Amino acid sequence: MLRYEAPIQGLWRRATRDTELGGVRLKEGDILSVRFGAANRDPAMFADPETLDPERRNARNHLTFGAGPHFCVGKQLALAELQTAFAIFLERMKNLRLARGEDGVDWATRYSGYGVTRLEMAFDRNEAG
Ligand code: HEM
Repeated sequence: MLRYEAPIQGLWRRATRDTELGGVRLKEGDILSVRFGAANRDPAMFADPETLDPERRNARNHLTFGAGPHFCVGKQLALAELQTAFAIFLERMKNLRLARGEDGVDWATRYSGYGVTRLEMAFDRNEAG
């Protein structure tokens, strides 16, 4: 899911020297927007990138936490929070589903920050949980 829906779709970089990237010439000082979300759906890296496949072997090659010297220092905490939250969801609720289909979902449309701002869910109580 982190590959599929990167919460930070992109950030900015400044070229520290003249170079070429993906066939595009960059001059020292040029500002570019690196799009982690697009890289995460690069078909050269991820076969059938539009499919959310929990068994995907190389899913961990995603760039959702960035790359290089400014790589996210909170990655391990974020993963621990996600694992804890999902484990409790699945323990307490069964048959988790959208309550009103796509009508119950709103998406943030900002350039960098990305995600749902409203998510109407329905579930059945898991008596065992
Ligand atoms: C799913 C949750 C999170 C995502 C998707 C995320 C994503 C990112 C990304 C894309 C960057 C920039 C990396 C780059 O420029 O290459 C970043 C940097 C950073 N993140 Fe996170 N992050 C998450 C959670 C957290 C948490 C929980 C913390 C702290 C408790 C945190 C602290 C930081 C800090 C301090 C930086 C700046 C690091 C630097 O500039 O050297 N992040 N994060």
